[in-house]
Amino acid sequence: MSDSPVSTHDPKGGESTDGPSAQQQKQMESAYANMKRKMAMQEIGKKIKHKIMVLSGKGGVGKSTVSTGLALSLAQQGHTVGILDIDITGPNVPKMMGLDGKRLHVEQGRIHPAQGHLGVKVISMAFLLEDEDTPVVWRGPIKLGAIQQFIGDVEWGELDYLVIDFPPGTSDEPLTVAQSLPDIDGMVIVTTPQDVALLDSRKSITFSESLKVPVLGVVENMSGYTISGTTSPEVSLEIAGPGGKKHKVTSDKDGNFNVTLDIFKQGGGKSTANEFGVPFLGELPFDPGFVRGGDDGVHRIVSEPEGASAIAFAKVVEAIKSQIGTSEGQGLEII
Ligand SMILES: Nc1ncnc2c1ncn2[C@@H]1O[C@H](COP(=O)(O)OP(=O)(O)OP(=O)(O)O)[C@@H](O)[C@H]1O
Ligand SMILES: [Mg+2]
Repeated sequence: MSDSPVSTHDPKGGESTDGPSAQQQKQMESAYANMKRKMAMQEIGKKIKHKIMVLSGKGGVGKSTVSTGLALSLAQQGHTVGILDIDITGPNVPKMMGLDGKRLHVEQGRIHPAQGHLGVKVISMAFLLEDEDTPVVWRGPIKLGAIQQFIGDVEWGELDYLVIDFPPGTSDEPLTVAQSLPDIDGMVIVTTPQDVALLDSRKSITFSESLKVPVLGVVENMSGYTISGTTSPEVSLEIAGPGGKKHKVTSDKDGNFNVTLDIFKQGGGKSTANEFGVPFLGELPFDPGFVRGGDDGVHRIVSEPEGASAIAFAKVVEAIKSQIGTSEGQGLEII
């Protein structure tokens, strides 16, 4: 073992003059491996300019959709972007990024990310699965160890942004990531307009305080349903949405129009953000194209780069960028 500092004959190292016991040897080697990994994480941290965590209190609100959407929107704007999918039990980021069934490339002990749509680098726990129908059931310490290893052993190269997608809930994973990766810019909390999801996003905000990672803001997902149509140029229309609510819209010079109808309640994300004094980053429409994209592996932002969802994502990205600009140097201490 040329890179191990541990000598098998070290009269001062162990209790016996014959050198450390097998157990001591093992402990020292593991401490050394940990130290090396920690240094690698510091190094990785320096090469990645911005790191953003995507969290929610509740499952199924669209964290992975938002994580992949943010990553692709940033890539659309010319940034180099990576996405780290921490969800061991149900990872679906590779599918959304067109990388279903892909294996990771390992060279000289370093893991190289797969390249998804728009050149976004993807690392997912899904790449560890033998087959996608068998969920990984790992006990806590093994799972957290695997996450640290993943963070320390990945060769991201230089990145402008790393987006980190988490499993639902305020569990150990975000804590492990926050403790492993230095200088996280902050977290984006995803919520849907329903009350119960809102309550959970409140939990996430309180949780962020204990993590000492700032909240960049709240995104309201599945916020409304956008319909598009064509009529004569520049005419005013009135469209009836759910509950009979009237929406006024004017067609453009080519006669195209689109209008967003509230299918769930709207504005809940904003009121949660206001209540907790954190920024509201914007609304993402309900778009069945996300569901199709999740199934066929072509993300909505890729299939319709100038569609309403891509535009909504670009707005959220702008809001996040301005938060990162204003929150630099504030409260980034990791406990
Ligand atoms: N804005 C949206 N419009 C329509 N469908 C959406 C939208 N956002 C997410 N979905 C769909 O909702 C489902 C759940 O989304 P997603 O997997 O992103 O949620 P999640 O919060 O990551 O879930 P989990 O908690 O299991 O990780 C998916 O089928 C996805 O395609
Ligand atoms: Mg998910």
